[in-house]
Amino acid sequence: MEERARAYGAIPEKREAYRVALQEVVAITSGENDTIANLANAVAILSERLGFFWIGTYRLIERELVLGPFQGTTACSRIGLGRGVCGAAASRGETILVPDVHAFPGHIACDARSRSEIVVPLRDERGVLRGVLDVDSDRAAAFDEADRAGLEAIAAALAPSWRDAPAVPPGAGNPTQTPG
Ligand code: SME
Repeated sequence: MEERARAYGAIPEKREAYRVALQEVVAITSGENDTIANLANAVAILSERLGFFWIGTYRLIERELVLGPFQGTTACSRIGLGRGVCGAAASRGETILVPDVHAFPGHIACDARSRSEIVVPLRDERGVLRGVLDVDSDRAAAFDEADRAGLEAIAAALAPSWRDAPAVPPGAGNPTQTPG
């Protein structure tokens, strides 16, 4: 079996892994409009190509980040805006790179082995914030500018995937009746 790529290789090696991952994400998501299907495949591709300890998505639903497709151990289902690294990245609308999670005030430890983390906002084609892409490592300072660039490029490639997923307006109930 092919050896899995490691997230902690030399920077040129890592940039190449992101380049290939981006091509694969674009190929598999173009022509597919379902948000969850596309997030799930993007996460699987990144996990396979970069060998992350934990990678996953949270979707912004009624001012909370709700767990979406991920690869790794069980994670917190909901994170409030402004809470933890994910909530901070969503509130600020910018990527946050945390070399030492223990030094980040309010960090949420879904897995006690996590040592460093990077969180990238996910936006739709209009630039509206729709969620975050979260990557954790069990090593300190595992992420660098190559990860930021690689993950931000993947997030941009996923922008069309939000087309069919309008944000649910606060207070709107779920339909209880099935058609016909
Ligand atoms: N550490 C994150 C929570 C999500 S888990 O890492 C999967 C945070 O502080 O927001």
